[in-house]
Amino acid sequence: MQKRKLGKSNLEVSAIGLGCMGMSSAYGPPADKQEMIALLRAAFDRGITFFDTAEACGPFANEELVREALAPCKGKVVIATKFGFDIDPKTGERRPGLNSRPKHIKEVAEASLKRLRVEAIDLFYQHRVDPDVPIEDVAGAVKELIRDGKVKHFGLSEPAARTIRRAHAVQPVTAVQSEYSLFWRGPETEILPTLEDLGIGFVPFSPLGAGFLTGKINEQTEFDKTDFRNMVPRFTPENRRANQPLVDLLGKIAERKKATPAQIALAWLLAQNPWIIPIPGTTKLHRLKENIGATEVELTSDDLGEIDTAASKIEVRGARLPESALQMTGR
Ligand SMILES: NC(=O)c1ccc[n+]([C@@H]2O[C@H](COP(=O)([O-])OP(=O)(O)OC[C@H]3O[C@@H](n4cnc5c(N)ncnc54)[C@H](OP(=O)(O)O)[C@@H]3O)[C@@H](O)[C@H]2O)c1
Repeated sequence: MQKRKLGKSNLEVSAIGLGCMGMSSAYGPPADKQEMIALLRAAFDRGITFFDTAEACGPFANEELVREALAPCKGKVVIATKFGFDIDPKTGERRPGLNSRPKHIKEVAEASLKRLRVEAIDLFYQHRVDPDVPIEDVAGAVKELIRDGKVKHFGLSEPAARTIRRAHAVQPVTAVQSEYSLFWRGPETEILPTLEDLGIGFVPFSPLGAGFLTGKINEQTEFDKTDFRNMVPRFTPENRRANQPLVDLLGKIAERKKATPAQIALAWLLAQNPWIIPIPGTTKLHRLKENIGATEVELTSDDLGEIDTAASKIEVRGARLPESALQMTGR
């Protein structure tokens, strides 16, 4: 597996990471724990060294799963986790809204350190920018955690460009994690130029468009009743039908490159910049192998030009998140 560095930091990780959220939450009931432990270890055996979790996934079950699975790989992997929702660190009770007050950030760090059973959190992201807490205070709290050896790197998820600059001035930001794929290209206007300017790495989440770009979802697909995609406008059956041309485009390129649509979606992200590290999520070994295979797919400038020209003519229908969740982004 090729390696990449997150921006100008020295944090080196596999070119593709593994998003662990879907093993415990978001896409229906949690997957079988022993199977997920085997999957996480298979990912490590195949060269993946970058694992993404969050206290909010479960809450807590995902961090616990990641710890149990990766205990034998201690010191050889980078585990990223997140703070910032209003979750009681002791009970897991989730209150509505956000909480990035410095005291809470420190409590969450202590709780995550215990759950992950590590001496320091490799990469600690603010999950969503809290409008009630100046970002300087958030960066200041993480700076103290770094000074105390409890955190190694600072990250932000779904921030606005101006917030990245303000945070970075207090505590250098190693990585920004926001949604990015051919299904959602919002970061291209302001975020990617800002990251390039400041030397910060970018970690696209939902790099497969929450599964849509793989071609395995169509308007007939029925999601489990607890699957969050039931609440997402771009996943209504009508919008899935309307958005199908994007998947067809990936299918066409995939056929020519003897690859799969998922691999083209990931290879396209990898080709955008050397400091981009996507974190596709899966609960299945054959898909893990397929996604890792994207690192072997080389898209030429002609391929990339063709994808860009064709994609620019396709208007994606439906918002990427429910309205209440959308309001928490880009602040
Ligand atoms: N910072 C944030 O707020 C935030 C938000 C969302 C996600 N994330 C992170 O980003 C990671 C990835 O995002 P995501 O899980 O939302 O979306 P994703 O990686 O774009 O897609 C995951 C979905 O695609 C399916 N899938 C994966 N590989 C496939 C393949 N080769 N062929 C067909 N289907 C495939 C998975 O189902 P199967 O399990 O059945 O394979 C799953 O339903 C998460 O795990 C999480 O760590 C962060």
